[in-house]
Amino acid sequence: MIIGIPKEIFSNENRVAITPGVAAKLLKFGYEVQIEKGAGENANFTDDHYKELGVKLVDTAQKLWDSSDIIVKINIPTPTESQKINQSKTLISFFSPHQNKDQLNSLARDNINVIAMDAVPRISRAQKLDTLSSMANIAGSRAVIEASHSFSRFFGGQITAAGKIPPAKVLVIGAGVAGLSAIGTASSLGAIVRAFDTREDVKTQVESLNAEFLTVNIDEDGSGSGGYAKTMSKEYIKAEYELFEKQCKDTDIIITTALIPGKPAPKLITRKMVELMKPGSVIVDLAAEQGGNCELTQKDKAINANGITVIGYTDLPSRLPTQASQLYATNMQHLFDDMTPEKNGQMVFNMNDEVVRSMTIVREGKVTWPPPEIKKENTAIKKETLKKSTSAVMKKKMPKKMNTFAGFILSMLALIGLGSVAPASFMAHFTVFVLACFVGYMVVWNVTSSLHTPLMSVTNAVSSIIIIGALIQISSDNFILTVMASLAIFITSINIFGGFAVTKRMLDMFKK
Ligand code: NAI
Repeated sequence: MIIGIPKEIFSNENRVAITPGVAAKLLKFGYEVQIEKGAGENANFTDDHYKELGVKLVDTAQKLWDSSDIIVKINIPTPTESQKINQSKTLISFFSPHQNKDQLNSLARDNINVIAMDAVPRISRAQKLDTLSSMANIAGSRAVIEASHSFSRFFGGQITAAGKIPPAKVLVIGAGVAGLSAIGTASSLGAIVRAFDTREDVKTQVESLNAEFLTVNIDEDGSGSGGYAKTMSKEYIKAEYELFEKQCKDTDIIITTALIPGKPAPKLITRKMVELMKPGSVIVDLAAEQGGNCELTQKDKAINANGITVIGYTDLPSRLPTQASQLYATNMQHLFDDMTPEKNGQMVFNMNDEVVRSMTIVREGKVTWPPPEIKKENTAIKKETLKKSTSAVMKKKMPKKMNTFAGFILSMLALIGLGSVAPASFMAHFTVFVLACFVGYMVVWNVTSSLHTPLMSVTNAVSSIIIIGALIQISSDNFILTVMASLAIFITSINIFGGFAVTKRMLDMFKK
């Protein structure tokens, strides 16, 4: 089969769907690959680079669409492009079938197949194909760069001879893929970052990026089906308004990413809230495509609202075209890898595979969207399972507790028995030994299991206490003893310094 990569024709679009490196992989999967001349230029991939790797260059879009079996692109085809899909061609691109039902229906003809890259199900197995996440990651990071471009101060605080500069305060609303990426970038630039999300699950992720997780005083979790958020109750949105009103007075930059799939973006920042912000503040609205989270957002524009810049760009991934193309193309490589089981250049639609089934929105000229819902463990199920397993564990634990108690009584009796016959000096050492075991046990038991590796390296360093014995022996009259002690001190020193160095590196890694 021939894979064709047309030049993206949307204005401000700089990405290309397949990079030269990935094109080479597709050739190895048995496909022929051809690309419209100049398609990769804006993403810094030259025609020569594709040609060197064996990709055919095609002069015009028309020729490319006519001669390709599979068209791989990024943006949904324009109506004119859609006309060029005929016979049994396969189209792979973003499609947003929720919003483009007419166009979807218009492709229900001939033997056309359409794979929508924004319909990748949110299951672990499909993560490698998840172009939405790849692009959201870039958009989140770029949003911070756009904000910093419009913001007339540093992000990080400084103390200089010319005075103290406070760090910028950034609020990220919606801590999904884009939000977490924005948090990471803003934190690394030195800003004080706060974040809010309706899904409580993301609290730990936010905190692991050195940001503060804000909450409202209402017991409602925003986790919906398929890993996405659900629409919140009126009371909850009211509580969010109160929180954001307070935050607007104190925050310099707001990055909003809140989305509900298939629905307009929730309006979370009102005109009144914008007025509360300090002049020079910036809002970057990543939900602009779906109507925006801020009342003042204008799609694809940056406006100045009484000194506050409100940015509604929807082309943020395209502003980092090389990176975005590389990630998109790698997702494509995984898709072709999965859908070409024989590596013979033949694409196979295994509609029993829930990933392929979900992404295929038109199959052999018939609309196959929406797909059947993938049964995924949601939070409610998880909580229920947790409850059941906890009660099972409790039941199991009861006899265990009894056993522990019996063991404790027996140990006490044994100790009393031993104390009545053993010499006093033995008992003194023995008591220290038992206490040391107890303290050691309690310390290790309270360390979370993920930190057991650094704990081991630090205990290894501490075990080098034998250095004290060596120090005592080193001044002995016996030459052999002195040599042994010196050797022990040397080797133990390596253990001590090495142990602490490894522990520090591990802990730094955990902090990251
Ligand atoms: P998204 O782009 O649909 O939404 C962005 C964020 O807005 C979400 O975190 C959502 O909870 C939040 N939000 C919605 N309404 C809000 C409101 N009223 N106030 C504040 N925040 C609100 O989501 P995204 O970024 O695409 O992914 C969401 C989650 O899905 C991720 O955090 C991840 O856990 C999961 N995911 C799983 C994947 C997989 O397993 N293959 C792939 C990608 C994401």
